[in-house]
Amino acid sequence: MKIDGVSYRSVWVDPEDGWSVRIFDQTRLPWAVEILRLTDETEVAQAIRSMQVRGAPLIGAVAAYGVALALRTDASAARLRQAVAMLGGTRPTAINLRWALERMAAALDNLPDEQRVARAYAEAAAICDDDAETCRLIGMHGLPLLEEVASRKDRVNLLTHCNAGWIATVDWGTALAPIYMAHDAGIPVHVWVDETRPRNQGAALTAWELGRHGVPHTVIADNAGGHLMQHGQVDLCIVGTDRVTRQGDAANKIGTYLKALAARDNGVPFWVALPHSTLDTSVSDGVREIPIEERSGSEVTDLTGRTVDGRIETIRVAAEGSAAANPAFDVTPARLVTGLITERGRCAASEAGLAALYPERFRSE
Ligand code: MRU
Repeated sequence: MKIDGVSYRSVWVDPEDGWSVRIFDQTRLPWAVEILRLTDETEVAQAIRSMQVRGAPLIGAVAAYGVALALRTDASAARLRQAVAMLGGTRPTAINLRWALERMAAALDNLPDEQRVARAYAEAAAICDDDAETCRLIGMHGLPLLEEVASRKDRVNLLTHCNAGWIATVDWGTALAPIYMAHDAGIPVHVWVDETRPRNQGAALTAWELGRHGVPHTVIADNAGGHLMQHGQVDLCIVGTDRVTRQGDAANKIGTYLKALAARDNGVPFWVALPHSTLDTSVSDGVREIPIEERSGSEVTDLTGRTVDGRIETIRVAAEGSAAANPAFDVTPARLVTGLITERGRCAASEAGLAALYPERFRSE
């Protein structure tokens, strides 16, 4: 992503000191582009919990750097285990967090203490490079879906939920990668962007990203998608995911399931884009087995935005005294998913489809 002519990833090591970790503060976007400096694992954990960094692949990548930061002051195996456990407890639904931390632990556990810090930074950097390349390939494998629509229509109308773009990954995004590639290839695309209450990742982050890239888009209330589908205004839905089970159920931001139901009722293809780090072959039935994060009710009762005079403020929109519930994710059963877009190609949302693309994951687990 280019900001003021400079290309950025969503996480990087500060080139000046060579060790601190930089991220964009996503709680300030799109009103202010502010870069945060993280200097220890506690700050990393707090950034993940508060959603200054968010998006399944990105929290894994930033947590990996959190391990490196933890080891700088104490490179023992005990400290490694402590940091992995602490960072792993920050958010429960996205499996990428556990995937990245397990990869760090496997790379570092058996090393002599004096080698751990350098190796931790190298492994975190490799996780970032892996994610960027994986997302690029997801874009390439998703692109033909848009090309097919473009071969018979003047414009490709997509609908996406939440933010599965560049700012949710290290680069490119998952659901948005094919859209960026289609736009760059000259295919006329237009994206219906679900606002994605309660935290508005669609209205704030997806719209911001798409706008910066020059992709035509329209923000809609979360409840508008079904109506647009009924009136033939959506050709294709593509969403990201926080965890895909071995049978192809997909957890994603709350409200995704309702979009999949509406898509099925209206014959609109519903695709889920995922990197290998989002596949959890240890669970089958997503509705029963995937832990759903319950966040503060204040995210539902309150709204944050920019006032006309430029201040970023949070106001209450719900009646005073009312309780609020805030399950942050839901699970779309595989039967409602047209297919999965991965870095290895597209497949059916089923055990057979996933096993054909990831045979090693189904053999060993
Ligand atoms: O709570 P968030 O903002 O971290 O939720 C993010 C999503 O639901 C994304 O769609 C998902 O992580 C995929 S990001 C490539």
